[in-house]
Amino acid sequence: MERLTGSESAGMRRFPKGFLWGTGTSSYQVEGGVAEDGRGLSIWDVFSHRHGSTYRGDTGDVACDSYHRFDQDLKLIRELGIGAYRFSVSWPRIQPDGRGPVNQRGLDYYRRMVAGLREAGVLPVLTVYHWDLPQALEQTGGWAARETAERLGELAAILGAELGSDVGAWITINEPQQSAHQGYRIGTHAPGRRDLAAAAAATHHLMLGHARALGALRASIPAGVPVGTTLDPQPYIPLDGESELAAAVMDADFNRMYLDPLCGRGYPDLARAEMLPDERLIAEGDMDAISAPIDFLGINYYRPHHLRRGDWNDLRLGEAPLPGFEGVVEYFDPEQPCTTMGWPIVPEGLTELLLNVHRQTGGVPLYITENGCAADDYPTSGGLVEDGDRIEYLRAHLAAALAAIDAGVDLRGYFYWSLMDNFEWALGYRYRFGLFYVDFATQVRTPKRSASWYAQVARTGCLPPAGAEARSGVAVASSVDGSVCRQG
Ligand code: GCO
Repeated sequence: MERLTGSESAGMRRFPKGFLWGTGTSSYQVEGGVAEDGRGLSIWDVFSHRHGSTYRGDTGDVACDSYHRFDQDLKLIRELGIGAYRFSVSWPRIQPDGRGPVNQRGLDYYRRMVAGLREAGVLPVLTVYHWDLPQALEQTGGWAARETAERLGELAAILGAELGSDVGAWITINEPQQSAHQGYRIGTHAPGRRDLAAAAAATHHLMLGHARALGALRASIPAGVPVGTTLDPQPYIPLDGESELAAAVMDADFNRMYLDPLCGRGYPDLARAEMLPDERLIAEGDMDAISAPIDFLGINYYRPHHLRRGDWNDLRLGEAPLPGFEGVVEYFDPEQPCTTMGWPIVPEGLTELLLNVHRQTGGVPLYITENGCAADDYPTSGGLVEDGDRIEYLRAHLAAALAAIDAGVDLRGYFYWSLMDNFEWALGYRYRFGLFYVDFATQVRTPKRSASWYAQVARTGCLPPAGAEARSGVAVASSVDGSVCRQG
């Protein structure tokens, strides 16, 4: 990964008082223990075992083995000294078939986790659905079936009743866009379907699932405990006049398709017909339920997409055809720094995005529920993992978040993705996002330099200037002195 040249003007700055610092994981990406204590199969178990679905055939069978090692992971969380930990529940651990009675042993895992976090003074932030649908529900139609939304409501009611007194904040669904698109339209994620109509139906049912989970939580958890949801709006930036319409349509197809209904505006007219849920699937009351007020919106940001005019028959370096928009290409500037995953590093895209979402939602409180980067991490012979590139990424994105706060966005917290290296979905164990390095053969976790850097930022609420950390980890620690940063 190249060094950042990103433009930021924030300098040495302090985040507002009470800003929540966290990190996150999701069940299938870290837990392993897939056949333990009565857990049922999820769509990811089935998908990852299907030949050719994931990088090198990697699966989440063991992952970080967190199902057996949460105590150890809790120590890592404590070490960071952060305020919050975001995790998700594995639905088939709680309801092996996605419906009916609770599997107590599965539930107990999360009960212990939540209690452990509370004891450590860390706010448990629970995502109800982060992609591991019970396979039994996929067999009855998955998200293409309305019934699945009702079942998610049932799961949320169980969780609310069982864990409601201890969970600090709730997220109904993580990135419904990825579930519908990758899961049902292009088949790159579980359940691996390629069916336009099923994907459009899944879009509505995921939004309805959010509504049902929200309603169930409101009815079962103590008043005042915040409930929200998480989207991953990806900015589409037109680089010329010819790509403006494509950018607007892509924004409608993939971003506004989820944000607009939450805000009571329904599905966007500008979206392409095949992306829009069939009107006949939308029952009376659905759109009102979907737009019921939430307490916050989680935003996951990794990268924007740049579009420009391009000849599909004569592609230039960095150009890839944009399916559905002949003559328009997605453009990756070869000069643009990017992560090992090939995602362009554009911190200012985060500022823009937060401002946009702030405007579009009428100022709903926002949290960055994911942001992070894959890097080529490896332990040196001395046992250190020197991930200066991740620190740069983090610093630049935190500066971008501060810029949004300065511009009036009600941003309340930041969760680095991820606590530790884990199963990166179809990309298996190829890419590492963690603050802690995981040796998947031994399950040993080693802090990367970014872990201590982030811990300092979280403890002081203060963002050191660019380059300070490049000198040495120790220098960072001493340069991050609360007394010298000014209030944001
Ligand atoms: C996501 C996922 C994470 C990924 C991360 C990096 O919400 O997209 O929550 O599970 O690991 O985004 O690709």
